[in-house]
Amino acid sequence: MKRREFMLAAAAAATLAPRARAYGAPAPAPMPKFPASFAWGVSTAAYQIEGAVHADGRGAAIWDTFAHGKGHIANGDNADVACDHYHRYREDVALMRQLGVKTYRFSIAWPRVQPTGSGKPNAKGLDFYSRLTDALLAQGIDPTPTLYHWDLPQALQDKGGWQNRDTTARFADYVQIVAQKLGDRVPRWITHNETFEHHVLGHAIGSHAPGLALGLQSFPVAHHLLLSHGLATQVLRAHARRGAQIGIAQSLSTERPADPAKDQLAAQMTNLFHWGLHIDPLLLGQYPLALGTIADMSAVHDGDLKTIAQPLDFLGINYYNPQYVRTATQGPLPAEGAPPPKEYETTEMGWPVIPEGLTELLLALRERYAKALPPIIITENGAAFADKLEAGAVHDARRIAYLDAHVRALRKAMDAGVDVRGYFVWSLLDNFEWAEGYRPRFGLVHVDYKTQKRTPKDSFHWYRRLIAQTAVA
Ligand code: FCB
Repeated sequence: MKRREFMLAAAAAATLAPRARAYGAPAPAPMPKFPASFAWGVSTAAYQIEGAVHADGRGAAIWDTFAHGKGHIANGDNADVACDHYHRYREDVALMRQLGVKTYRFSIAWPRVQPTGSGKPNAKGLDFYSRLTDALLAQGIDPTPTLYHWDLPQALQDKGGWQNRDTTARFADYVQIVAQKLGDRVPRWITHNETFEHHVLGHAIGSHAPGLALGLQSFPVAHHLLLSHGLATQVLRAHARRGAQIGIAQSLSTERPADPAKDQLAAQMTNLFHWGLHIDPLLLGQYPLALGTIADMSAVHDGDLKTIAQPLDFLGINYYNPQYVRTATQGPLPAEGAPPPKEYETTEMGWPVIPEGLTELLLALRERYAKALPPIIITENGAAFADKLEAGAVHDARRIAYLDAHVRALRKAMDAGVDVRGYFVWSLLDNFEWAEGYRPRFGLVHVDYKTQKRTPKDSFHWYRRLIAQTAVA
């Protein structure tokens, strides 16, 4: 440091120190240590960042169709360009290197690999993921690909999509193609992202692609998604490298009745549809009996549950907040989301900030599944705020506070004995937030969608320091 810089720094420190004391600002408690093997990462998804929807033979995905349908996406946005990550992945890998993450969770777009969802692979599409894998490994970052993050090839949707049992076999074929190409280099695989959201938002309510509002008739979709997870796990065990870790990323939280006097039943129904329908079969090999009284279970064939309940190396959990629910006044389902109580701060998504909900969730998981619970990885956690890019910086103190509190909440559950092996921030980049379009910004890195310029936010630097400082040698 030059003398003048030193004098300035000393003067700044002298003015700041008494102020901090005068305001009585408590020094933040030091972040607890984490095991050296703890997998610190960031997450993204193909459709939300890649753009290049017509490049190199990519086929149409249900999200292309949906996003271009009138009134489906806020502000009329679509993901044709998104963050143009398909062309800029090297720059994005360099950012991750700077961040110091140990692993990167991205997703593979099925319509790039098989443009119509079946048949011969599209070599150019597959090569993109091979180059990305190599670029990550060259920087010492483990690739954690998700095989399906909601972008079904449109050609399969035209044949019934996830309502059609045959889609599960198509998925297994696709997974085999990917495993044969990347399996020698990938240490950790995720089959599906959030079967609950894809099922309910996409097929029961219709606010996501493919836009179906089947209500309770959508049950086969959930079953087929889970069945395809089981088949994919078997394929990966046979074709990926030995010892590769295999899991699934499920959204999960505890349910809270909006009005404890009136909405207990709504909370129980939500639990049945979420934990009961989307987690129990994976870990316990069964659907709750109560489901059979409200849903048509004829999609379940003999042996399916055995296939679904393949041993998992980890359960990925995407956690944002506990769910407030109430009895539905209209719509196809008996329960619906409710606004959170006013005392909680909310994010740009309107989601309440409740870090202790993460500790609560992890303890509830252990309580419910006991020995059947595999190690856990938090595969998504993060928050959208109205960030401002000012003089080349984004001072996103609220995001830092959110992430800091959630990492501590997670550590608390670990101290109570829950086996958590990793944590991924959603997301590396600001991106296309599905039906909400580009308005909510979740990134550690700001993206200017006009110029594609990336600017690391303050939270990026906070996370970099956290990763560097918390590992116990
Ligand atoms: C999750 C999705 C992810 C992202 C975050 C905010 O439900 O898996 O793609 O949109 O929410």
